[in-house]
Amino acid sequence: MSSDSERLAVLEPQRDEYLVFGSPQLLDEEVDEVVATLRSGWIGTGPRVHAFEEEFARYVDSPHAVALNSCTAGLHLAMLVIGLPPGGEVIVPAMTFAATANAVIHAGGIPVFADVDRMTGCVTAAEVERRITERTFAFIPVHFAGRPCELDELLALARARDLRVIEDCAHAIETIYHGRHAGLFGDLGVFSFYVTKNVVTGEGGMIVTPNEDFAAHLKVLALHGMSADAWARFSDSGFKHYEVVEPGFKYNMMDIQAALGLHQLRRVEHNLPRRVEIWSRYDEAFADLPVFLPPPEEEGTRHARHLYTLLLDIDRLRVGRDEVQAALHELRIGTGIHYRALHLHRYYRERWDLQPGDCPNAAWISDRTVSLPLSPKLTDSDVDDVVDAVRRVLHHFSA
Ligand SMILES: Cc1ncc(COP(=O)(O)O)c(C=O)c1O
Repeated sequence: MSSDSERLAVLEPQRDEYLVFGSPQLLDEEVDEVVATLRSGWIGTGPRVHAFEEEFARYVDSPHAVALNSCTAGLHLAMLVIGLPPGGEVIVPAMTFAATANAVIHAGGIPVFADVDRMTGCVTAAEVERRITERTFAFIPVHFAGRPCELDELLALARARDLRVIEDCAHAIETIYHGRHAGLFGDLGVFSFYVTKNVVTGEGGMIVTPNEDFAAHLKVLALHGMSADAWARFSDSGFKHYEVVEPGFKYNMMDIQAALGLHQLRRVEHNLPRRVEIWSRYDEAFADLPVFLPPPEEEGTRHARHLYTLLLDIDRLRVGRDEVQAALHELRIGTGIHYRALHLHRYYRERWDLQPGDCPNAAWISDRTVSLPLSPKLTDSDVDDVVDAVRRVLHHFSA
């Protein structure tokens, strides 16, 4: 076969429909709740947001939970309530989404990138420690893909060096470490309900904290710095005046978003075994391919199974990751890249004169990682199609 016809054969899709990566499972209960919200006469921050905050707090067993319009907003406010000083350094993993570092910059601080473990993608205490200077104020562990970071070691380090810890729990709604939910170990934990996450509200986020003062401050900062929210001002309990006590932001969640979140959250435990099932299927199906599989769940922890990130062994392939991803696309399988390490992106690289070798493991992952569909919405036949496509493409491109 010529290489052209060979390519056509491998890229002949078996599916009619494109499998969209991260497409959320939205059921009738969400649709009905959104419609009920629209008909209720109140779509802004109101009773459903308050109910969602209460249910989320109960779910993770936190004394406080504040709903916001994104995790990004939450990370920004977290930096403000901990009192990050101008120019204060915050250590963030290089292997994360831009929001983790940008929140530090928007709060007037400097993100300092730490390397991660090659196989788990999680930052380690040793890597954080290496980056500590006299200007370090805090660090942000990201529970990568839903796997908890080594929190015992990280918290011991924080205590020893008097640093604040903000857990980026964007991937970690169901994550448990030594019996407690992720998000409750540091000063604050910030969750995401973005469209691809394990609980979706369209856009949305939640901050949890054991600290009552932080929680009260977050509520004020999330709504213009006003002392009372709109529901408190306009609801049937009667009009109340408000006062601006500091220049805050417009980061509040709406009841339309919470309408989705309430039902999504109620299904999250039910969905996890399905995520585990798909995960195990992938592990078995790909064990003989030129890839590194995600390591198993560590003892005493629960992995949220947010992302199934396959690391391609590109030394045993004839092409790079982008070609593999393009071939999967041709086979109508959508995938994601989590992530191209932040220190490789132009802005951070140029601003702080960073080299790929500054965080070599994150750079290594960047070239090899591809995230496969992993959603309770997938049918067995969808999962078969993903397995078949990955096997065909990697066999085809094997060196
Ligand atoms: C690790 C991480 N942190 C932060 C965020 C930001 O979340 P959001 O989109 O809710 O602002 C994301 C979102 O994708 C993320 O993956």
